[in-house]
This record gives sequence, structure tokens and C-alpha cells, in this order.
Amino acid sequence: MSAEEGLLPTPPEVKSPEIKKGPDLKKRAFTEDKEASLYTRRDFFIKTGWYFFGMVLSSWLLGLVRYMFPRVLFEPSNIFKAGFPEEYPVGQVSTRWVSEQRVWISRTPEGFYAILARCTHLGCTPIWLPSEDKFKCPCHGSGFHRDGVNYEGPAPRALDRVKIGLADDGQILIDKGTLFQYEKGGWDKPEAFLKMLPR
Ligand code: FES
Repeated sequence: MSAEEGLLPTPPEVKSPEIKKGPDLKKRAFTEDKEASLYTRRDFFIKTGWYFFGMVLSSWLLGLVRYMFPRVLFEPSNIFKAGFPEEYPVGQVSTRWVSEQRVWISRTPEGFYAILARCTHLGCTPIWLPSEDKFKCPCHGSGFHRDGVNYEGPAPRALDRVKIGLADDGQILIDKGTLFQYEKGGWDKPEAFLKMLPR
């Protein structure tokens, strides 16, 4: 050993910085991944929640709107005015209201009666044949006299008559809501015939 060596202090040992080993890096990467995946999952659940909330709200609003417009079938009234008696010549079966109201109005020397244009077999609309003085059903061939009584084909009974009267303004008033059956004596009821002599 030299003299100089004996005088100089021994320099402290310098430690080189520790380099983190592989497992720490892996742990940090795993933690970051986990955080990222947690965020994505949270985001997903929030979006899904809003989606279902929107669906429920939309359904509720649709139901509310549907409630404000109820499903009601607006049918034409059973009661209608059929014009003045003078418009119907004696002896005529008028087809004027068949397409619109499904009713024939028949004028006799004593007054009026109205027949519902609905076959008593299966409900088809018969046709008035003036040259043959009868109603004929095009579906299965039932035939009816001009007063509505059946005489051929499968129809089991006469055509129905409907209520007839006079309105306040003097027009003929028909009420299809009240039917009269021949077989039950309904045609003899006062509402089934409008007595009126020709002027
Ligand atoms: S529906 Fe008129 S004869 Fe059958």
C-alpha cells in the first residue's frame, strides 16, 4: 500500500438504481387494462339503462296517445229520413235507399212499408226485379214476393220489415234498429206500416 492510499477515505459504494422486474410491469399493465375495461362496462350499462328507459317512456307515451283516440267504430245511424211521401208513386217498390241504407220502401194504395234488403238465408242483398215482381237473392237463389214473403230457395223465412213513421217535417222516417218478423206477427204492428192515403 502507498502513502496516498493510506490517507484517502474509501469512496462510498454507489448503488445502481433498481430496475423493476418483469412481474411489476405486468401488474401495472393489468391494472390499467382493468380500469379501462371497468370504464367500458360502466359506459355500456349506462347506455343500456338509458335505452330501456327510452323504450318504456315511448311505450307509455304511445299508450297515452292511443287512450286519447279510442278505437270506436263510427257507423251510420240506423235512423234516416227518406224524403216526402209524394216522392213515391203508388205501386212502386223504391230502390232509392238500397245502396246507402239497405232498405226498400214500398208504396201501396193504403200507405208505406219498408223492407230490410238482407236475405234471411245467409245475409246477401237480394235484387228487386220489377219485371218479375219479386226479390231474388243472387247468392243461393231464394225468391221473395214483393211484400217480402219467401216462396223459393233456402231462405227459411220472410224478409224483415223495419220501423217506419213520419218525422216532424213531414218526411218519411225509417228506423232500421227496430225489425219486424212476419212469422212472429210483427208486420201487424202499427210501427211496421205507415198508413197514408194518396193525396
Ligand atoms: S244468402 Fe240468399 S239465398 Fe243464400
